[in-house]
Amino acid sequence: MTEVRTAHTADLDTATLTTVRDLLDRAFEGDLADLDWEHALGGMHALAYDAGELVGHASVVQRRVLHAGRSLRTGYVEGVGVDKDHRGRGHGVALMAALERVIRGAYDLGALSASDAARGLYGGRGWLPWQGPTFALTPLGIVRTEDEDDGVYVLPVRLPLDPFGELVCDWRDGDVW
Ligand SMILES: CC(C)(COP(=O)(O)OP(=O)(O)OC[C@H]1O[C@@H](n2cnc3c(N)ncnc32)[C@H](O)[C@@H]1OP(=O)(O)O)[C@@H](O)C(=O)NCCC(=O)NCCS
Repeated sequence: MTEVRTAHTADLDTATLTTVRDLLDRAFEGDLADLDWEHALGGMHALAYDAGELVGHASVVQRRVLHAGRSLRTGYVEGVGVDKDHRGRGHGVALMAALERVIRGAYDLGALSASDAARGLYGGRGWLPWQGPTFALTPLGIVRTEDEDDGVYVLPVRLPLDPFGELVCDWRDGDVW
């Protein structure tokens, strides 16, 4: 049975964070860059345990997303991964349920950039693939991010969103979405 613990980055000790990073390195098969890991820090983590062993992780951090003339407080999901041997048993669902509670309670909307492997997970939970064009608010101005259009999903919470409208994420090093 999955047990999910939620905690802010500030309340996870170094050993736990190291274990999470190792888990994500395995889940992403070495494809998790240092900046990807950095993007997963500074918010609320959900940690999934099976028989006391850490088997999955996801986190939500605050970002600003511009949409329809407003700057929306956005719960942005990062670092979603479950150890290979434990997939297909509902751990991903349990992690997302824990983060969606946080998103619904604290943010105007949820957003994330989905891997192909995770589209079913998000789509089955009410996350909507964004239909409109995406952009990033870079130091050089607003830049179109067309390569990201297909992967961006949102979870509407408090505000009506125009799913065909523009979505502009705030700036950060590494992958902007
Ligand atoms: C995406 C990922 C996190 C899903 O984790 P998971 O623990 O396997 O997820 P779940 O078991 O909760 O659900 C995943 C699938 O199993 C199904 N499932 C859920 N509970 C199940 C159960 N008890 N038995 C069998 N299947 C189940 C779900 O319906 C879902 O199916 P779908 O994706 O085909 O629609 C995992 O595959 C992973 O770590 N992938 C590599 C990293 C990655 O791509 N992360 C996402 C980045 S955006």
